[in-house]
Amino acid sequence: MRVVVIICTYNEAESTPKLIEALAEVFPQVKNHEMVALYVDDTSPDGTADIVRKHQKQYKWLRLLVNPKKSGLGGAYAAGMAYAMKELGADYLMEFDGDFQHPPQYIPQLVTKIDEGYDYIIGSRYVPGGSIPKSWGFSRSMLSVVGNLVARALLILPQVHDCTTGFKLSRVKGFMDQFNFDTLISKQFAYKVQLLFYMVNKGAKVVEVPFAFAPRTSGESKIIKNEMKETLRVIFWLQFRNPKIQRFFKFGVVGGTGLVLQTTIFEVLGVWLKILSPSVATVLGGEVAIISNFTLNNLWTFKDYQVKGGRIILKFLQFNFTSLIALGIQFGVLKLGESVAKGSGLVIQFFYFGAIFIVLITNYYIYNKFIWKTSQKAPSSK
Ligand code: GDD
Ligand code: MN
Repeated sequence: MRVVVIICTYNEAESTPKLIEALAEVFPQVKNHEMVALYVDDTSPDGTADIVRKHQKQYKWLRLLVNPKKSGLGGAYAAGMAYAMKELGADYLMEFDGDFQHPPQYIPQLVTKIDEGYDYIIGSRYVPGGSIPKSWGFSRSMLSVVGNLVARALLILPQVHDCTTGFKLSRVKGFMDQFNFDTLISKQFAYKVQLLFYMVNKGAKVVEVPFAFAPRTSGESKIIKNEMKETLRVIFWLQFRNPKIQRFFKFGVVGGTGLVLQTTIFEVLGVWLKILSPSVATVLGGEVAIISNFTLNNLWTFKDYQVKGGRIILKFLQFNFTSLIALGIQFGVLKLGESVAKGSGLVIQFFYFGAIFIVLITNYYIYNKFIWKTSQKAPSSK
């Protein structure tokens, strides 16, 4: 495999000659893959590109791409990755910092994971063996740890322990060659959470390799001040367009509609007009809500898995049965609540809403797993 290590630089004149020499020592340690280094420099005023050019005479594996103007780290990587795939025939793309904060000796460790069939290899600070610089003070460390946890939670990627690292190795075929760089939400550092999200959701086989993120010894960080905000913006748009989140949102809207229907019927027929007794009005309202929920979920929430024809009857019966399970859960939780609450209204309310929450999650699970079977291939895409 041909691995292109992409090193984006802006004013890294001090580190660059040292890093090139370090790469010259490390690359030969990789036996069964071909290593190429591609510098992507945004015409740094300190002449970083000239340093690379000078070394190119000595090292065949050293390549350079110059952007006429500063385009942000994401912009530089977009240009560098496209170039590596199109012009350099890359099979794997590595994202690597040009300031020694990603120590070069870890490169072979990531590359060997290719042989184990991994598509996405993450240099991770937050798995055992990985670390952030000891010299970082409390607030800087907290910012990194908490920032990562927030990103991890909002991206809903519990399986990835370091969601904000900049040290990665990605397979081109079937993955990066299908990524449309025009869809990059941010051209700043936040591009990386989008690529992470893309790779994982594309079904990449992922592994994290621990590494010690080193302190910066020369030059200065270019990370933009509002990077946190930028990352949150990227995650917001990723999730806003995420079909799974959209489905859950629709499920919530449909459930809410059902609740309003049931309550209206109860209030109007059972309380206001007194046509029915409250208990009968509750059950009637409940069944109307069930019919409405089933219909709306089938037509909207699970449109891509829509049940049609005679099977609707079977599915509707199953759906009713699900609602019975939900009632059973609520009954059980409330029984438990009664024994714990010992007459406290507040405690019983807690159990009531807790039960609704549990039912919400179980229902959603059952709908996905048994009613509309979303883990299978969508009928519309067959
Ligand atoms: N071409 C180009 N254009 N390169 C850039 C730009 C740019 O606009 N901005 C930064 N770089 C280069 C730097 O010259 C350096 O080689 C590399 O990108 C990383 O930039 P730093 O400024 O050193 O970033 P950092 O150390 O604050 O952030 C690193 O750690 C973060 C995790 O704490 C990066 O690896 C981040 O990706 C990572 O999230
Ligand atoms: Mn750095």
